Amino acid sequence: MIEKRAPGKLFVAGEYAVVEPGQPAVLVAVDRCITVRLTESQDAGRVHSSEYGQAPLVWVRDENGENIVLEHRPADYVLSAISIVEELRSSFGAPPRYFDLDISSELDDASGRKFGLGSSGAVTVATIAALDEFYALGLTRTERYKLALLATIAIAPNASGGDLAASTFGGWIRYSSPDRAALKLHREVHGVASALHCSEWAGSGATRIIPPESLRLLVGWTGSPASTEHLVKRVHTPGDEKPLPFESFTSESRACVDALVDAFDQDDAAVALENIRQTRRLLQRLGESSGSRIETDQLRLLCDIAETYGAAAKPSGAGGGDCGIALSDASLPTIDILREWERHGIQRLSLSPHRAEGGI
Ligand code: PMV
Repeated sequence: MIEKRAPGKLFVAGEYAVVEPGQPAVLVAVDRCITVRLTESQDAGRVHSSEYGQAPLVWVRDENGENIVLEHRPADYVLSAISIVEELRSSFGAPPRYFDLDISSELDDASGRKFGLGSSGAVTVATIAALDEFYALGLTRTERYKLALLATIAIAPNASGGDLAASTFGGWIRYSSPDRAALKLHREVHGVASALHCSEWAGSGATRIIPPESLRLLVGWTGSPASTEHLVKRVHTPGDEKPLPFESFTSESRACVDALVDAFDQDDAAVALENIRQTRRLLQRLGESSGSRIETDQLRLLCDIAETYGAAAKPSGAGGGDCGIALSDASLPTIDILREWERHGIQRLSLSPHRAEGGI
């Protein structure tokens, strides 16, 4: 059996802006993971996951033995990850083999509700890592991140891939996305193997950053899952017709991310926290100008409580529910924040930043 774990993630700054190629964001991987266990099988492949309920997802190959044909479910991230690796495997001339996947997640609650910790990204990354080993493809980490991004944009073309980079490389990262439309086209015209090494796509867009040692992270869960895709569609106009508020949002977001990364470099927790607070204000303005409920009532409460007691707080990612983060200096007691969160039905998620191993 092959077992691969991939961590979930939180957005610390730069969400929404990062959807634009080249715009930076800061993310942190967390020490809660999705685990994919792969075992070789004789005929069709099955994917067991609590998400698919009682009936496992079943797939078979087409008559040429080249492509995946899905039997029971519409395309999803796992299937997309499988088909991208299968395409690469077949381009190397390696023979196909059958396998079952068993997926378990620490990124949902007991009833399967997602916390908003990047489960789609983590399952994509873990599936690709398991298949890389199964087929002995010898991919580098950057190649696995790239495959994960190609698999993801086949389903969600706007996705920045920040979650995939955090999940692949772990730890704290600064990330900016490549031009996904160009990569998608390159894959369609020239195939996956060529897309991995095309000139438009030099590296992963991720660099490792180290936060001030005194920075502490709290995560609160609102209990309401949100749809990132729906929220991103409300805010982003594809092509060049960006509304003016979005243009100024992206430039202010960039300034905030740059200042945050500088503060990390200087080990300056106070300046880092100031830029987290500013990120929340930018997201609030973006929500107002686009008519999108990025900061729901529950998220507002979560952040207001944390700010009242001296922390810096913001929604993580697209908002609309899911979870929010509070960052503070180690000298700040967090007991009041936690008590007030609990009083208002905000559940603290017990997790810590993931410890990165190895470089990018
Ligand atoms: O809501 P999350 O945690 O999936 O994050 C979405 C972040 C966005 O920048 C809004 C979209 C993206 O793909 O980066």
